[in-house]
Amino acid sequence: MATRFDPSGPLRGALRPPPDKSVSHRAALIAAMGEGETRIEGYLDAADTRSTLDAVRALGATVEGAGSDAIEPTLRVRGVGLRDAAAATVDVGNAGTLLRLLPGWLAGQEAGEWTLDGDDSIRRRPVDRVAAPLGLMGARIECREGRLPPLRIEAAPLRGIDYELPVASAQVKSCLLFAGLLAEGETRIAEPLLSRDHSERMLVAAGAEVERVDGVVSVRPATRLEPGEIAVPADFSSAAFLIVAALLVPGSDVSLAGVGLNPTRTGLLSILSRMGAEIEVEPEGERGGEPSGRLRIRPSQLRGAEVGGSDIPLTIDELPLVALAACFAEGVTTISDADELRRKESDRIATVGAALTALGASVETSDDGRRIEGAGALRGGRIDSHGDHRIAMLGAVAGLASREGAEVAGMDVAAVSYPGFEADLASLANR
Ligand code: S3P
Repeated sequence: MATRFDPSGPLRGALRPPPDKSVSHRAALIAAMGEGETRIEGYLDAADTRSTLDAVRALGATVEGAGSDAIEPTLRVRGVGLRDAAAATVDVGNAGTLLRLLPGWLAGQEAGEWTLDGDDSIRRRPVDRVAAPLGLMGARIECREGRLPPLRIEAAPLRGIDYELPVASAQVKSCLLFAGLLAEGETRIAEPLLSRDHSERMLVAAGAEVERVDGVVSVRPATRLEPGEIAVPADFSSAAFLIVAALLVPGSDVSLAGVGLNPTRTGLLSILSRMGAEIEVEPEGERGGEPSGRLRIRPSQLRGAEVGGSDIPLTIDELPLVALAACFAEGVTTISDADELRRKESDRIATVGAALTALGASVETSDDGRRIEGAGALRGGRIDSHGDHRIAMLGAVAGLASREGAEVAGMDVAAVSYPGFEADLASLANR
């Protein structure tokens, strides 16, 4: 069944987007590794982050405040401690972050065996990027065809390594940081470009010795973690759909409160500013090491831009929206160095290209990105989400801003990260 998004009148009003998915995953995992009770304020109630709660329960942590209908404003997790995860089979569902982070913790346990598996999309997502460096640390991991889930992990003693990440990936970095907590000696991870650093911030707040010097993040072995309290800001990546909608729908004026503004996440703001957007940012301070603030977005005339290099990891999940905004700009936008997009919930070089073409845009796809000829507007049409939450929400925003509207097949998958997305759009459209 397809969901229709008609061209919209001005979007107006204020809201707080849902809690951050990346921070929520880490909060549940680090709380599970911790001693005693961790209180998590504002945990994301979405399919992916529910998979993480199921996983930590299977590993022996107790979770209070997450019923089958709703997650309470404060979630309480009683950890199993760093080295005592119970043996289990874990279904990660659609959650790539859970799939990549968890092996780092499990590989260094004192004893036990684990199997990690998930849905069809997960079964296509490579895990050799974590299995290979963990192997160098002494981990015992087997995966299907050497690179795909399911993966089997057997507890083993780990040793610290110096590792240069072949691509900037916060998931791989975080996995190795978790393993480094359990290893003998220091673990040092060199990143080719800065990627999101939520794990570093949260581990430091829990008492771990994690440090960044230039492009190298190091972690020392730990005996215990005590996270105590973790506050989750609103998700910049979810806010991004509302930001671009308000930028593209004429007459809009939207304020978004409590949005996480960690500079390793907000590459979209710099790119949009280079394209001519004027978005007001009002910082609201920092909680638990994560800055947040209020954004006010009104439409601006956009121009094409060149996007690549260090933009990519800081904007990785928002690149589909950059491409959409580029359709409404004047001039050409190029996106390069983004072949990592091929390994997301769908091959986003292919699926975004197909979606924008179906909506009437002039897009050329390359190996590592695309070239978009801005036309100042978009016709509209019918697209498929391909089971990817961010493609579904991209289609919805495109429909609102288009001349003829859009139909999105497979819209329900938005619930992976943003269950209230359609309701939030409607609330802004009806004011
Ligand atoms: C994430 C890191 C990014 C991002 C993903 C979430 C994380 O993946 O695309 O949605 O929470 O660490 P990579 O680290 O593989 O680029």
